[in-house]
Amino acid sequence: MFQVSERLKKIPPYLFVEIDKKKKELISKGEEIIDFGVGDPDLPTPENIISAMKKSVENPKFHRYPFGKGTKEFRKTISEFYKKNYDVDINPEDEICVLIGSKEGIAHFPLCFINPGDISLVPEPGYPVYHLGTLIAGGESYFLPLKEENNFLPDLGNIPQNIVKKAKILYLNYPNNPTGSFANYDFLKDVVKFCKKNNIILAYDAAYSEIYFEEKPINIFSIDGAKDVTIEFNSLSKTYNMTGWRVGWACGNSFLISALAKIKENIDSGTFEAIQFAGIEALTGTQETVKKLREIYKKRRDIFADGIKEIGFDFKMPKGTFYFWVRVKDNSMKFVDFLLENGKIVATPGVGFGPSGEGYVRFSLTINEEKIKKAIERMKSIWQK
Ligand SMILES: Cc1ncc(COP(=O)(O)O)c(C=O)c1O
Repeated sequence: MFQVSERLKKIPPYLFVEIDKKKKELISKGEEIIDFGVGDPDLPTPENIISAMKKSVENPKFHRYPFGKGTKEFRKTISEFYKKNYDVDINPEDEICVLIGSKEGIAHFPLCFINPGDISLVPEPGYPVYHLGTLIAGGESYFLPLKEENNFLPDLGNIPQNIVKKAKILYLNYPNNPTGSFANYDFLKDVVKFCKKNNIILAYDAAYSEIYFEEKPINIFSIDGAKDVTIEFNSLSKTYNMTGWRVGWACGNSFLISALAKIKENIDSGTFEAIQFAGIEALTGTQETVKKLREIYKKRRDIFADGIKEIGFDFKMPKGTFYFWVRVKDNSMKFVDFLLENGKIVATPGVGFGPSGEGYVRFSLTINEEKIKKAIERMKSIWQK
C-alpha cells in the first residue's frame, strides 16, 4: 500500500464536505439553490480581451514553452499599469514575474524562504493558501486574528518576540477576503517598519485591488521603503473576470522575485504566451468594463446590505471585493446548515477561514441582482415570520 508523504498528511480535509453533499442532494431533488458560496465571478471576460486571445492563439510564435519571468511586453505593460494606476515604479526587467494565477505564486513562494521550523505570520480569517503553502514548504504558521473591533487588521504588537524571531514571511491581503475590509496608510507604514526591523518578508496579496467602491485601496509600494521587503501578488482573475485563464504576477523586491522565478523555472514553465498577450489587452484596453464591474458589485452589495439590515443582521459594510461578511448569532457551521435546509441558500461558514471567523458567514455576491433579491425574500420568510 502506498503511503502519502507527511507533508500531504498535514493538509487538512476539506471542511465543507457535508454542506456540499447536502447542496448536491437538494439540487438532485430539483430544488432551486441560490449559491453565495463560490468566490468566482459570474460575468464573462470582456469582449476586447477575448478578441485579443483569438488572435494570439493563432500565432505560432506563442505556441512554444514560455519560460522565464514572462514576456518582455507583458512585464512592460504591468509596470506601466502600476505607474498609471498607483503612481509607483516597478522595473519590468527584474521586479516582475508572471504567474499562472496569483495562487500559484502564493503557494510556491514559501518554498523559496521557509526552512523546516520557520514561521509564516498568517492572518485569519484568510485565504487558506498562505498557510497551506507554508505547510508544504515544511514551515509552520503563526496565526494573526483579524478582529472586527480592530477593523480586521492584525495587531503586530501582540506577536510574541520568540515568534517574531523565527518568522520569515508576513502575509497580508487587502482588499480582504473574506471581510471586505481595507488597510489604511498608517497601518501599512507600521507593517513596513515592522518587517524591516525584524527582517521579515511582506507577501502582500492584492488580488482584489481593483474591486473597490467608495475609495481606492492603497498600493503597498506607495509606502516609503516597502520595496525593500515586499513582494506583491496580483492577478487578472477578479478585475477582468478571468479566473479560468490562470494569469497573474508577482512584483516588487528584485531579490524576492528572482527567488520565486528560480523555483518556478524548476516546477512549471510559465504562463501560455497567448494568454500573456491577451493580458496586455486587458491592462491597456478599455477600462470601462472594470468601472462597470465595480458598479455592478456595488449595486449587489447595496441590495444585499439593505435586505439583511431589514432582517436584523449585523455587519460592517464591505469597502471592496465581492464578499459580504455577516455576523451571525449562531455557530457558523450550524447557521449555514440551517440556511441551506430552510432557505435553499448556500453560504460559507466563517470558521472555514480560521477560528476568528467563527460567528460570521461569508456571502459571495457573484450572482445576479434578481437572485440576490430572491435570497433576501427567502431569508425574510425564515426570520420575519
Ligand atoms: C485572497 C485571494 N488571493 C488570491 C487568490 C487567487 O486568485 P488567482 O489565482 O485566480 O489569481 C484568490 C482567489 O480566490 C483570493 O481570494
